[in-house]
Amino acid sequence: MEIKITKTACPKEKPDSSSLGFGKIFTDHMFVMDYSREKGWYDARIVPFGPFEIHPASTVLHYGSEIFEGLKAYRREDGKVQMFRPIENIRRMNSSAERLCLPQIDEDMAMEILKTFVKCEEDWTPSAPGTSLYLRPFMYGNDETLGVHAVHNARFMIIASPVGSYYKEGINPVKIMIEDQDVRAVRGGTGYAKCGGNYAASNRAGERAEQKGYSQVLWLDGVERKYIEEVGAMNVMFKINGEIVTPALTGSILPGITRKSCIEVLKREGYTVSERLLSIDELEKAMADGTLEEAWGCGTAAVVSPIGELSYKGEIFTVNEGKIGDVTQKLYDTLTGIQWGKIEDSFGWICPLD
Ligand code: PLP
Ligand code: COI
Repeated sequence: MEIKITKTACPKEKPDSSSLGFGKIFTDHMFVMDYSREKGWYDARIVPFGPFEIHPASTVLHYGSEIFEGLKAYRREDGKVQMFRPIENIRRMNSSAERLCLPQIDEDMAMEILKTFVKCEEDWTPSAPGTSLYLRPFMYGNDETLGVHAVHNARFMIIASPVGSYYKEGINPVKIMIEDQDVRAVRGGTGYAKCGGNYAASNRAGERAEQKGYSQVLWLDGVERKYIEEVGAMNVMFKINGEIVTPALTGSILPGITRKSCIEVLKREGYTVSERLLSIDELEKAMADGTLEEAWGCGTAAVVSPIGELSYKGEIFTVNEGKIGDVTQKLYDTLTGIQWGKIEDSFGWICPLD
């Protein structure tokens, strides 16, 4: 495919890697490609990063037809840049697109686009420990009419942001509030899709949690408010009495790529991992009787993040004395080791740029 590249006339200065945070600074270019039912995908281009015009009736502004992905490019010690399991993000994006009636992107084409774009922005991949270049592909419905229907015109874009750690706590344990009022998703809805609307609906509870000093909320299922689902931007795992438990993919939670990777690492290490329903009653009991040994969240932005405190209906439980546990540490070391090329990738997860 042809990707037309227009380089910026005024490249920005690269940021100091100690001040990165998450998603605040953007690179010099962005990828843009348009879609219509008649033409399919057309006009693939890399252009200078910046604001662009949008029709006031565009579908996304009224009916929320939007999906996104999140993945990272990492700088290895030898200076080369690599991505982590990008094919999984491409497949999940197509699954989200199917749910939202947005167009599919051929996997090979999407991979070529990603690699071309990352190569263009490669110099923006920071090298300080724990930093990476976060890639945010997204797609939105762009019909210029107020009628509600499946999307006929769409736009696909990728922007990139050099990032440090997602939480201000870094690898230190975070505090999570179990949400008992709002719900994030229901089976049959869009929970398994990575669509913007899921996040918009999460903000109210997230804000309440933040006001009380918590990093994020842990969602319960939308029907019975009984089963543990996931955290705002992470899947969640627990070690209860030696068993590693993570909520099953029932359709209302995001099938995380970090979750999948953690399960594969743990199984290879000989752990039994149960993907099953985990009720709040079971978790509360484990917190109360001390059999909850570890809890952690996992996601691209957050990597593997220990949970040091959980609160439910005003009651506060400390997990593993607020310290990172052995399994959490092992997962963090293995995944980050593979991602930054410090340990051998025997899983075949790494994707070099050429
Ligand atoms: N769950 C939600 C709601 C998320 O936003 C994310 C982040 O992408 C995850 C889970 C973890 O998914 P992944 O590991 O693919 O980044
Ligand atoms: C990611 O981990 O890539 C995410 O998309 C989380 C995001 C909502 C900040």
